[in-house]
Amino acid sequence: MVRAIMHGCNGAMGQVISGIAAKDEEISIVAGIDMRTEQKNDYPVFASLNECKVEADVVIDFSNAAAVDELLDWCAEKKMPVVLCTTGLSEVQLAKVEETAEKTAVLRSANMSLGINMLLKLLKEAAQILAPAGFDIEILEKHHNQKVDAPSGTAIALADSINEAMGNTYHYKYDRSATREKRDAKEIGIQAIRGGTIVGEHDVIFAGQDEVITFNHTAYSKAIFAKGAVQAAKFLAGKPEGWYDMADVIGENGTPTVSKFIHSQPGFSFLELFPPLCLWMKASENQFVKASVSFFYILCKKMTSCAV
Ligand SMILES: NC(=O)c1ccc[n+]([C@@H]2O[C@H](COP(=O)([O-])OP(=O)(O)OC[C@H]3O[C@@H](n4cnc5c(N)ncnc54)[C@H](O)[C@@H]3O)[C@@H](O)[C@H]2O)c1
Repeated sequence: MVRAIMHGCNGAMGQVISGIAAKDEEISIVAGIDMRTEQKNDYPVFASLNECKVEADVVIDFSNAAAVDELLDWCAEKKMPVVLCTTGLSEVQLAKVEETAEKTAVLRSANMSLGINMLLKLLKEAAQILAPAGFDIEILEKHHNQKVDAPSGTAIALADSINEAMGNTYHYKYDRSATREKRDAKEIGIQAIRGGTIVGEHDVIFAGQDEVITFNHTAYSKAIFAKGAVQAAKFLAGKPEGWYDMADVIGENGTPTVSKFIHSQPGFSFLELFPPLCLWMKASENQFVKASVSFFYILCKKMTSCAV
């Protein structure tokens, strides 16, 4: 049984994770940390990590960027593995995360869902075909009106994935109101919309001459992130210091071996991932994700036939 500390336990994500962990025999939340301690949970809640003396194997963090420095210091000192999910970290904080990974196991992902983690890989392949053909790349993300950081960490991760595939030759444009000029070919526009209770929606748009291709991922519930985080915590507990990501988690327990396949077979066509992905989504006990893969499945078929 993995013993986890839930950092940010009384927030929206902390509560969803607490509910999922309570039904999971392989993990137990043994303590929670939150500046709001008044809410009752099945475990003790402390206002800060330094007050918490409960033995644990891993920390799951969904809190606030302002809370992350203290969290990293504590985890480094205690050699406590940490699943770091809070978004909106500064460059300085990201450097600190890397330093922490030299002292303990760190898994950071701006998006813990399987659908997004697979999309990160698919976009690399799409960008390598579409960008040289002159397609402009734009990302639009939508989230609920309580989200404080913008653009989302996921939108940046999607852009980073594309940029990495293109040899880091692109730059990001967040606001076009300050200047009156045409977009340049090497920019990725990233726009954020905030409203209502939207859980999370990301469109990656490849706009070419007379055709537009859109990759869309829609999250219908926070449970998709929570399940990924719980899975990641079970994976990370007991691991040596170092840097881990969701591809490692997916690879280890074979759900559904997408990552292993992509890593081991560079020439593997992602068309073949479509049926297992659908099966996974159908089999999932929470049918909250509708990653709109059907459209790019058709697109990819078209691209494959064009490339032949
Ligand atoms: N990586 C992912 O897949 C993913 C998914 C969803 C949300 N997130 C991110 O996780 C974070 C939390 O999201 P949420 O929707 O649960 O937010 P939330 O505001 O509902 O919850 C955050 C909780 O952290 C607590 N907190 C804030 N500062 C603290 C501090 N200094 N010490 C202790 N507790 C503190 C707050 O009191 C609150 O209860 C955000 O950054 C969000 O963007 C990441």
